[in-house]
Amino acid sequence: MNYFKKILKYALPYKKYAGLNILSNAFYALFGTLAMVSLIPMINVLFGEGEKVTVKPDLSGADSYIKFGIDSFNYFLTQKLEHDGSEGTLLFLIVIIVSLFLLKNFFGYLALYYITFLRNGVVKDLRNDLYNHSLELPLAYYSDQRKGDLMSRILADVNEVQSSTLSFLELIVREPLTILFGLASMFLISPELTLFVLLFIPISGFLISQIGKKLKKHSTKVQEESGVLLSTIEETFGGIRVIKGFVAENAFKKRFSATTRRYFDFSNSLMHRQNLAGPVSEFLGIVTITALLWYGGNLVLVKNTISGGAFIGFMSLAYQILTPAKAMSKASYSVKRGNAAAERVMSVLETTSSITNAPNAVSNLNFSSDIKFDNVSFKYDKENVLSKVSFEVKKGQTLALVGQSGSGKSTIANLISRFYDVSDGAILIDGIDIRQITKSALRGNMGLVTQESILFNETIKNNLLIGKENASDEDMIKALKIANAWEFIEKLPLGIETNIGDSGNKLSGGQKQRLSIARAVLKNPPIMILDEATSALDTESEQLVQVALENMMKNRTSIVIAHRLSTIKNADLILVLRNGRIVETGDHDSLMAHDGNYKKLIELQSFQ
Ligand SMILES: Nc1ncnc2c1ncn2[C@@H]1O[C@H](COP(=O)(O)OP(=O)(O)OP(=O)(O)O)[C@@H](O)[C@H]1O
Ligand SMILES: [Mg+2]
Repeated sequence: MNYFKKILKYALPYKKYAGLNILSNAFYALFGTLAMVSLIPMINVLFGEGEKVTVKPDLSGADSYIKFGIDSFNYFLTQKLEHDGSEGTLLFLIVIIVSLFLLKNFFGYLALYYITFLRNGVVKDLRNDLYNHSLELPLAYYSDQRKGDLMSRILADVNEVQSSTLSFLELIVREPLTILFGLASMFLISPELTLFVLLFIPISGFLISQIGKKLKKHSTKVQEESGVLLSTIEETFGGIRVIKGFVAENAFKKRFSATTRRYFDFSNSLMHRQNLAGPVSEFLGIVTITALLWYGGNLVLVKNTISGGAFIGFMSLAYQILTPAKAMSKASYSVKRGNAAAERVMSVLETTSSITNAPNAVSNLNFSSDIKFDNVSFKYDKENVLSKVSFEVKKGQTLALVGQSGSGKSTIANLISRFYDVSDGAILIDGIDIRQITKSALRGNMGLVTQESILFNETIKNNLLIGKENASDEDMIKALKIANAWEFIEKLPLGIETNIGDSGNKLSGGQKQRLSIARAVLKNPPIMILDEATSALDTESEQLVQVALENMMKNRTSIVIAHRLSTIKNADLILVLRNGRIVETGDHDSLMAHDGNYKKLIELQSFQ
């Protein structure tokens, strides 16, 4: 219940609807009970039974209001019978019964009508919170967690929570009230019989709770597996080109069917347990009813303490309270499943980001002097990926990072943007530790061009606007020109309004890179971080990208993870990395003069 309680705070803004729902449900329960009770006079009229009251009852003479009410009604009926005969009275009673059922169902609908706003409102707010919180989570969370799992929490688990909120309200308001009103009327009809019914309820309650016990465990398994399912689908569609290219369809089919198989098994055991609830409570219900028939039949036939009509009315009421008892047991399963889902939802919301703004962090940074790495060590998991890295870049300089694959170049870029925090040492910008600068101030000073172009299924314009929200078309065209991208966009029939497809896949590799560069140029940050793409481009597009990069780096401080000789040659400072350590520093000429790692790298990789 703990997690579910936390979710309930999402229902608070909609408490007005919960109130209206409760009110409507109270009327629903009231009219439901009255409808059943109204059967009694009808049956009595049908069989010519029932109490004849010929003297108009007097309130002061009656023991209670209830007695007065019943007597008044009977007096009224007796009069009506004398006046209109049984046929007319029957018709009158039927009109009453139909109206009561109509009212009952009207309020039932009204209750659902109001609660719909609450249920869907909770879904909306929870999803928004989950999405916003996911955006706050550090990159490390995404490398640890499956994306599909997060998606399944935002989609499936939130739905589960939604359906269980309804069950919860049914559980605490609608059904208990129905039972309460039902029991009260039953008690009025025959206290003896009611006590007899009450004996059965705890027994059924115990048996039913046994079924619910393992439900939460099963439900968690099912939801987890649906996360794996979504991950597999997401990865498949993302990598469809590779899967087809490597004819790996069968391997993926196997992987997928293994998940669906597990999902099948888990769902089966969950549903089998749930399905057990209905038959068990139905059977327990009928046992109660037959016991009542036997015991009550005795009262009617042998002892003659209650009328036949009252007995049938009593039985209908008993059945009426057994249905909510059944519904309550079902609802309590739903709430258990909802609790499991709520736990998964809350665990995302309660994951705190390790990368947070310090209490008195600097919030307006205008990069003016230098970037400094001071003895920085870093590990993603256990092993150090960077060890005691120190260097300094002055404003306006270009720093090139070179080194073998896996030597830690992209990691350095990740650390400057504070996607991760250093494990040891410090990174200083203008002498301020970047952990003492707000994330938005820090990242506002930086432009990022990643190793793979990351573009969205949007128009060129909207992709660019991520760089600068309020950029004018002129600004965009200027940036596109600097990035050498205007020449191809100009030729598109829709120009910057062209949609570039999923991940920008309607563009060529070089075009994608130039568009990513334009996006960074548009932002116009003082510091540019550039992870040069290693993907081989043809010479022409290579040159186009090269020109774009050179244009971009003009008058800026740049940290470039360089694979192209021309970029490296132009750099003011080159760091040669090996296994996370700086092994050589200097400019191109001085490093070439020294017969070391750098020279070997240049020769081995035969840069252009
Ligand atoms: N998210 C991560 N979690 C754990 N280890 C990681 C993660 N990212 C990178 N690594 C490890 O850190 C090391 C450095 O990786 P990095 O991406 O910095 O290399 P790189 O120099 O950029 O290589 P490349 O030239 O191939 O891009 C590698 O050994 C890699 O396995
Ligand atoms: Mg890299």
